[in-house]
Amino acid sequence: MSASVSIMSFTPFAARLFACLATGLALIDGVIAANCCSKLNSALPDLVFLPNTSSYASLNTHRWSNTSILSPSCIVTPASARDVSSIVKTLTIGNNCAFSIKSGGHNPNTGFNNIDNGVTVDLKLLNQATLAADKTFVTLGAGTTMGQAYAAVSNSGVAFPGGICDGVGVGGISTGGGQSFFLPKVGWVVDNIIRYEVVLASGVIVEASQTRNSDLYKALKGGSTNFGIVTKVDIAAFPHDGFWGGQIVVPATNVTTAQVLERVSNFTAANNDNVDAAVMIVASYTPDGNRIIDMGIASTDNTENPPILAPWFEVKPQLLNTVAHKSLANFVHEVTQPMPDGYRMLTASLTVKNDLETLKQVQAVTDALYEQVKDKVPGLDWMFSYNPQPKVLATHSAKRGGNSLGLAGLSHDQILFWLVPRWTDKASDALMHEIAASWVQEVNHITSQLGTSDPFVYLNHAGYFQKPLCGTGSENMKFLKGVADKYDPRKMFQRLVPGGHKISTKC
Ligand SMILES: Cc1cc2nc3c(=O)[nH]c(=O)nc-3n(C[C@H](O)[C@H](O)[C@H](O)COP(=O)(O)OP(=O)(O)OC[C@H]3O[C@@H](n4cnc5c(N)ncnc54)[C@H](O)[C@@H]3O)c2cc1C
Ligand SMILES: *[C@@H]1O[C@H](CO)[C@@H](O)[C@H](O)[C@H]1NC(C)=O
Ligand SMILES: *[C@@H]1O[C@H](CO)[C@@H](O)[C@H](O)[C@H]1NC(C)=O
Ligand SMILES: *[C@@H]1O[C@H](CO)[C@@H](O)[C@H](O)[C@H]1NC(C)=O
Ligand SMILES: *[C@@H]1O[C@H](CO)[C@@H](O)[C@H](O)[C@H]1NC(C)=O
Repeated sequence: MSASVSIMSFTPFAARLFACLATGLALIDGVIAANCCSKLNSALPDLVFLPNTSSYASLNTHRWSNTSILSPSCIVTPASARDVSSIVKTLTIGNNCAFSIKSGGHNPNTGFNNIDNGVTVDLKLLNQATLAADKTFVTLGAGTTMGQAYAAVSNSGVAFPGGICDGVGVGGISTGGGQSFFLPKVGWVVDNIIRYEVVLASGVIVEASQTRNSDLYKALKGGSTNFGIVTKVDIAAFPHDGFWGGQIVVPATNVTTAQVLERVSNFTAANNDNVDAAVMIVASYTPDGNRIIDMGIASTDNTENPPILAPWFEVKPQLLNTVAHKSLANFVHEVTQPMPDGYRMLTASLTVKNDLETLKQVQAVTDALYEQVKDKVPGLDWMFSYNPQPKVLATHSAKRGGNSLGLAGLSHDQILFWLVPRWTDKASDALMHEIAASWVQEVNHITSQLGTSDPFVYLNHAGYFQKPLCGTGSENMKFLKGVADKYDPRKMFQRLVPGGHKISTKC
């Protein structure tokens, strides 16, 4: 069958796939997907789970976020890159089966890591986590969670950058960016990836590194689900003998909030010359009416009381203070404790130029939006986070040929806002999504008034309705599209994998 014939036979399917969303023809896709599942089942009988099995129920309901629970026609759990290759061949070549890819499942956008009337490829068995004998890198399967990954380096005298939450997956982190407490020191996680192992749409398994398929390598460093399924990564490790740090929790009042915002702004500027320090600030307004600010602070070279962290200790009263010497694994484990799974959740994010007035105004509109929903949304835990992005972080990408985050040559400090509220009832989803959209609009309004807007949107924190790839710039988008055309000429990852932020979305 020639390529042009299979593209033609594909087109009506794509039309149906999209039409079904509007007209309820899901039944037809259900039949197609059932057919895909039976083909997969013949190829990999022990790894495919149909809806009438208890394994399916367990895989599909034990999710980080209940907004990710859909009804895939089957779930397949590959145990090797070869399995992934045979799955991709079965789903793409001649069959045109829609599918989703799940690693840690921490992206709460509905449909990003699960699918109705399609196949969910759950990478959980790709959970290899090993430290190289010479301790210069770790090899992580793409379904490894950060908790599993950090355990592999405990007591070894080295660390590597990854997500700051046990359940976050290597798949999303290694293709979307990756923020850690080492961000000012070594840059994004993707800046520290030495090589990817990737299964292309053709089923071919390739290496992407600075010397092999270097265009694909660069594109994967921020380009997300658009090029293939990553099965394994090597991430550079560096000597590390532990953290000095922890969480300082204070009540969120007008006074403490103002103090924290001033510190976020000052810290971000000073972080450029103090790259061994990092902070992550989360305000949380809980269903029982408590309002707190959780200040995660870290001295990543284990120095006690570095002057740059002193101002955080002045915010009072402290409801909790866990600052001490601890390991990377224990620090992340500690930060994970207040984050149980099973909630409905949304995510939205914007980045601004570091400016205190902007922080104040954004905090005010964010609080006002909270007031609109707090009595209407059962179980609402309103979480809002500030992450410093000092400009020094962009200098770390050059060492391995750059990334596709669009931050090369960054000449100003940024602050990232992350709106990540959770709640319990599906009935509140629509209202919460409206609020998230309003939040994006209102923050954009503030920053355009103040001249502090920034096109960067962190892909891993972006809402499904945002366009983070567009924020990386038209040059970069052109590059990403060129790479996708080269490695996925039939656009399988655009057409068959609806989940994630796609390069085919119009900017
Ligand atoms: C509680 C919490 C804490 C977080 N902490 C951090 C943090 O410290 N640092 C940070 O940078 N981010 C953090 N995030 C954001 C996180 O990076 C994103 O949620 C990310 O998408 C999670 O990756 P995952 O593999 O767990 O997610 P998944 O939902 O499994 O995957 C995310 C996206 O990537 C795609 N994908 C996954 N694996 C692959 C693969 N192997 N090949 C191709 N595509 C793939 C999926 O299809 C999906 O679209 C956090 C999120 C939450 C909810
Ligand atoms: C589940 O359904 C499939 C296909 O419909 C059938 O072959 C299989 O026997 C069923 N399994 C169980 C456990 O009922
Ligand atoms: C806190 O600030 C808000 C918004 O500016 C204001 O409405 C409120 O009265 C303040 N609360 C206190 C206790 O000062
Ligand atoms: C923040 O920086 C400003 C300007 O340098 C300074 O006046 C202020 O005291 C600093 N605030 C804190 C809490 O250090
Ligand atoms: C999430 O969904 C699962 C499966 O339906 C359910 O058991 C669990 O109670 C839900 N969690 C919450 C917090 O509602």
